[in-house]
Amino acid sequence: MREHDVVIVGGGLAGLRAAIEAGRGVDTAVVSKLHPLRSHTGAAQGGIAASLGNASRDSVEEHLFDTVKGSDYLCDQDAVEILVKEAPGNVYDLEHIGVVFSRTEDGKIAQRPFGGHSKPRACYAADWTGHTVLHTIYEQSLIAGLRFYDEWYALAIAMNDGACAGIVAMNIATGDIEAFHAKAVIFATGGYGRAYRITSNAYANTGDGLALVLNAGLQVQDMEFVQFHPTGLYQQGILVTEGARGEGGYLLNDKDERFMERYAKEKMELAPRDVISRAIQTEINEGRGIGGKDFVYLDIRHFGEEHIRESLPQIQDLVVNFLGVDPIKQPIPIQPTAHYSMGGIPTDVHGQVIFGPEREPVPGLYAAGECACVSVHGANRLGTNSLLEAVTFGRRVGIAASEFASEAKNVPFPEELLSQVKEDVDKLLGSTGKESAPLIRTELQETMTNLCGIFRKEADLRNCIEKVRELRERADDVGIHDRSRIFNTELIDVLETRNLLEFSEVIAVGAEARRESRGAHFRTDYPKRDDGNWLKHTLAWREKGGVVLDYKDIVITKYQPRERRY
Ligand code: FUM
Repeated sequence: MREHDVVIVGGGLAGLRAAIEAGRGVDTAVVSKLHPLRSHTGAAQGGIAASLGNASRDSVEEHLFDTVKGSDYLCDQDAVEILVKEAPGNVYDLEHIGVVFSRTEDGKIAQRPFGGHSKPRACYAADWTGHTVLHTIYEQSLIAGLRFYDEWYALAIAMNDGACAGIVAMNIATGDIEAFHAKAVIFATGGYGRAYRITSNAYANTGDGLALVLNAGLQVQDMEFVQFHPTGLYQQGILVTEGARGEGGYLLNDKDERFMERYAKEKMELAPRDVISRAIQTEINEGRGIGGKDFVYLDIRHFGEEHIRESLPQIQDLVVNFLGVDPIKQPIPIQPTAHYSMGGIPTDVHGQVIFGPEREPVPGLYAAGECACVSVHGANRLGTNSLLEAVTFGRRVGIAASEFASEAKNVPFPEELLSQVKEDVDKLLGSTGKESAPLIRTELQETMTNLCGIFRKEADLRNCIEKVRELRERADDVGIHDRSRIFNTELIDVLETRNLLEFSEVIAVGAEARRESRGAHFRTDYPKRDDGNWLKHTLAWREKGGVVLDYKDIVITKYQPRERRY
């Protein structure tokens, strides 16, 4: 059995930021299914928000209001206050540890506009912001001398009498399955875009942390709110940063119209993501996609070659390499892409996992970053608030977990869990079942995209739930051909597919129950927001194989809900 004070599951920005902080006080280890530098943080392009006021006057108050309004009033405002107040300090911290932000003429951190933000607030490093931040924070985590378990895959959370005692994880290189005994465990396992066919998310983004939490009998929150980024590269889903629109790029349909005029007259291409994704999808559905197809154009040609190469170099490369289109000379074919999960593991503002409407703490268990729901994004996240969330709550959770671990006694590790997990994996490795995990995964992605995507309605959601349940049953009969334990990627694929199925049903059940439209959750049969009945968080967990829902109040500190116009 491996022993550490704090074990962090996930090596992206939130996990590493937490690890650096926790490692200052107690023995800390990072368990990550990828090498940390392959984490999906590296794919974040356009920026990190902070009201530095370097491009125009700005304030914490305006950042707060924009985020609350952007969330369609479903966020917890106490958490958003922390996010926006701590933002400038957290960005300067990143600068001081070596993040090479782009600069203004007079040497300040450059800031560009982003959707839903009323001021240019995105601090950026060309369109490599996440990549730059990730590499810098990883350097710092190496300097901190943390213990890394790279390419170890978490398989279960060890709970003992309601408290967390560690995790069980598999070394992907050897297939060895081991217990990690810890006083505190922090989940920072990222998002789950791979439940959808077109996604900006890396292949590894299979929502493993959410599935493990559900398997442990704990709850997830607001899972029906799935963000579609408006500009995914056509058919690839790869992110084309909102920074392109922030710098003046516009969207065109088949009639060469800047169609956003019909949907968000004032903000146009800088409306929030939920509004723009629906607008694009409506254009496509009504036959105004380019050539009648399922894409529209993002045009940045008017920036000129020099500006494109300087501020959007990655986009230029991606578009040329994946579509054979040169954005200097041609408009970019784009379509909405599943991008971000507003919901996740419910936590308090210190990252401690909580349970139930009364927000009871789960001793020893923490979460931060995309897999968590603290909830700063409510029903719709504003671009650039996610890197900010990862550093802000990563730091806070690191402090909280280390304080807890330095005082807490060890909770005994439930040995039987290790045997159960080993048995389960042995059974899978011996399985001759007739089903194929890749085919099940593909069917799941089609189902979620077609029946629980940007536009939703009752009949579709019911069909979606039924189909996901059928796929879950079929997944019990998957066959595995590779029986070895060394780097068995087929086994990992099966385990990830099971995880995708585990929480996808929860997304669909939550979406079916929520009979209103709010933020990224749009019901064509209930097209209005309904604060009287639905200004509340969804809690979901599993009982006897089914999904159970409950609701809890949101936290309002300053802003009562108003009509949301852009
Ligand atoms: O468009 C983007 O660059 C994405 C940023 C984000 O999701 O925060």
